[in-house]
Parts: sequence; C-alpha cells; structure tokens
Amino acid sequence: MNILVLGSGGREHAISLKISQSPKISKLFVAPGNAGTAQIATNVEVGVNDFEAIKKLVLKEKIDLVVVGPEDPLVNGVHDFFLNDDELKSIPVIGPEKAAAELEGSKEFAKEFMMRHNIPTAAYQSFTSETLEEGYAFLETLNPPYVLKADGLAAGKGVLILQDIQEAKDELKSMLVDSKFGNASATVVIEEFLDGIELSCFVLTDGTNYKILPTAKDYKRIGEGDTGLNTGGMGAISPVPFADTVFMDKIERQIVKPTVDGLKKDSLPYVGFIFIGLIKVGEEPKVIEYNVRMGDPETEVVIPRLKSDLVEILLAMANGTLDQVDLQIDERAATTVMAVSGGYPEAYEKGKKITGTENIEDSIVFHAGTKLSDGKVVTNGGRVIAITSFGKDFKEALKTSYQNMEKLHFDGMYYRKDLGFDLD
Ligand code: AMP
Ligand code: GLY
Repeated sequence: MNILVLGSGGREHAISLKISQSPKISKLFVAPGNAGTAQIATNVEVGVNDFEAIKKLVLKEKIDLVVVGPEDPLVNGVHDFFLNDDELKSIPVIGPEKAAAELEGSKEFAKEFMMRHNIPTAAYQSFTSETLEEGYAFLETLNPPYVLKADGLAAGKGVLILQDIQEAKDELKSMLVDSKFGNASATVVIEEFLDGIELSCFVLTDGTNYKILPTAKDYKRIGEGDTGLNTGGMGAISPVPFADTVFMDKIERQIVKPTVDGLKKDSLPYVGFIFIGLIKVGEEPKVIEYNVRMGDPETEVVIPRLKSDLVEILLAMANGTLDQVDLQIDERAATTVMAVSGGYPEAYEKGKKITGTENIEDSIVFHAGTKLSDGKVVTNGGRVIAITSFGKDFKEALKTSYQNMEKLHFDGMYYRKDLGFDLD
C-alpha cells in the first residue's frame, strides 16, 4: 500500500523509517520531509497545513493511508477535511478529528475533560481579560511557584512558571490584556504547581481499544542540569527507569483507560496517538498535558523499540481492530541525543554543511532540521540530528550515542552531554 506521512522532523523520520521496513509498503511519501526521509521515501514539497495540495497529492499518488506527525494540521482539522470530501473520505487518517485535537489545542478544554472524567491533574481555574481581577485573587490563594498557561497553541512557549506573586500578576496581565502569546493567551489557565519527576506515556487508540507504547523521558531544557530555556527536546530515554509495573498500572487505570473511555463518552472520535505528559508526585501519576501526536524526540526512542509491524498497527487503528494487535517491544533501552544549531532555541543560522554521518556505527541517525542543498546535507532548523542507540540499560545506550555524536560535525553544533543525570 501507499502511505503519506505529514511532517518534517525527527519524529517523522522515525515513523517513516519504521513504515519503510514493513512488507506491506509499496510507496512511501513524506510531505515536506527532510534529508533523512529523502533516503527512504519520496519527499514532496507540500506544507502540512495546505489541505488542498495534500488532497491533490493523495489522489495523484493513490495514497491508502495518511499519518499526521505534528499537531497543527490536526488542530486545523485535516482529518475532518478528509471526512468531508467525497474523494478522500474513505482514506484513513491517523490522527484525531478537530474536536478531539482540542485536547492539545486548548488547555482549558483538556482540563475540563480531565475534571469530567476524574483524571488526576493539577487544580486550576481559567481566566480571560474580563476576569483579570479574579485571576489576581486566585493567584493570592496559591503558594509559589505559580503556573500560567496560555490556553491555545503557542509553539511550546505558552507555559510560564514564576516564583514571585507580582511577576505572576504582571505576566497574567501581559498574556490576557497585551496578547503576549497572541490569541493563544486570550484565555489563561492558572494551575497548582506539581512537584515531581516528569515522564511521557504514549497510547495508540482506534477510539475504543488502546495499546500502551513504551514510556519515555525527554530533556527539554537547553542547558546541562536542566537549566536555561525550554527547547523542543534535547534528547530522550526509554523506558523510564522509575516507571515500574505498579506505577504503570496506576497510569493505565487512573489515566489511560478513563481518557480513551472519556473520548468515546464525549463523542470525540479519536484514531491516533495520545501523548500524555505526566508528573510523578510522591507515588501518584498526574497529567500535565495531552498532546494529540507523538513526542519529538520521544518518537526516536519509542518507535525503534517497537518490534511489531507499524503498518499493521496503523491499519488496525484505522479499522477499529487494535484489540487484535500484539505489540512486541524490544526489551533493550533506547536513548537519543539531539544535536542542535548554535544559538537555538533563540536565533540560529541555517545552511551549515553536515558531515560525519557516514562514520556513525551501531546507532540510528534521525534527521530533524536538515535538507538537501546541491546534493549536500545542510542544517535547516534548530534541532538538526538525533542519534539513537540501544543498550542493556540507558547508560550503555547513551555511551554509544555520545561516541557517535563525536563523529558528527556542523558549524555551531551543540548537544547536552548529561542526559540521564537525574536518573539512577
Ligand atoms: P505543558 O506545555 O503543559 O507541558 O508545560 C510545559 C512544562 O511546564 C511541563 O513540561 C512541565 O515541566 C511544566 N509544568 C506544566 N504544568 C506544571 C504544573 N502544574 N506543575 C509543575 N510544572 C508544570
Ligand atoms: N518533546 C516534547 C514534545 O514533543 O512536545
């Protein structure tokens, strides 16, 4: 069969590589893709939000299934676009419809969903510019640090954690009144600060049945010791050592099952990946956020650990037969380390020549922000290349990733050398 993957990051390279290994695949397309996906699929210069161009591509190339990588097209309704089009409606799309994508598209929607279905999360209230004064009063009832979240999508930047009450009030005003994050902060969720260690849980669902993929932990801060600005993710480890069976059982009973059942009860059609951002507070899991897609760079450790045929799984999701799938997971640990452009996550240059990938051994090279320019691979984003390795534990896997990182070069390249520092 012919499959189209939408997106251009490390996540899409990892998903595409796994799909390309399936005996079921005839032709694989990635739109727009990167220099890595170009090695295993046909890249097509079509943007993920250009639905009309996606339609043309799907019809021209006789695509049988579409996998949506990033959240934007889902929140913008790409799945609904297919369902509402006579020529496209029989072609399955992996990714929720617009209404369910609001789990990521609106923090307030996600909080209300969790309240409705008794899913453990931080206490919260939401405010608009009309209720600014009530917002100040709510902040007064909380202890620092204060957590302020723009309701809408803000490219991962919409969450502020502040120690000082006056600063929290000023930021609340700036979000609500001065549109600090544009329309995304027209509503702000203020929530209780949760103190604990974070992990991510990935779930596949066909809308009724679900399967839990391996857990992962990503490292979001640019600096070692988890310091400095937030990034898309500087690396990841799977499985998460502290997520033992007792804890995983709690996650499944208190969070995963109520989430999938809740979507069904609320008539929110969901065929796709659910990425649940969790925090372990004492021994209890609590939800920090939902994402309606896989994580990046978590995908670069979770998908390589999947031994089963991904295309068979995607088909079962589309057909509502996920209960019949037997997920086979590699017992080994996987780690990925991300090489980023100098200056990222602030301003950085693109177009730097990347060398050394051909010398990398015993690891998988996933391209993120790369492209081909005159036949050469050059940087084309903040996060450039992720090196994924296996090992008997995450320490052994990291050693291989780091050894191979030393063989990779581009001007201004930076990576964190301390991944796993917070784990035993
Ligand atoms: P989010 O975009 O909701 O995932 O938030 C971004 C980051 O802010 C999370 O990965 C956490 O590190 C942190 N965060 C969000 N909400 C809370 C909370 N209630 N308590 C503590 N940290 C939080
Ligand atoms: N690595 C975090 C994310 O994909 O949102």
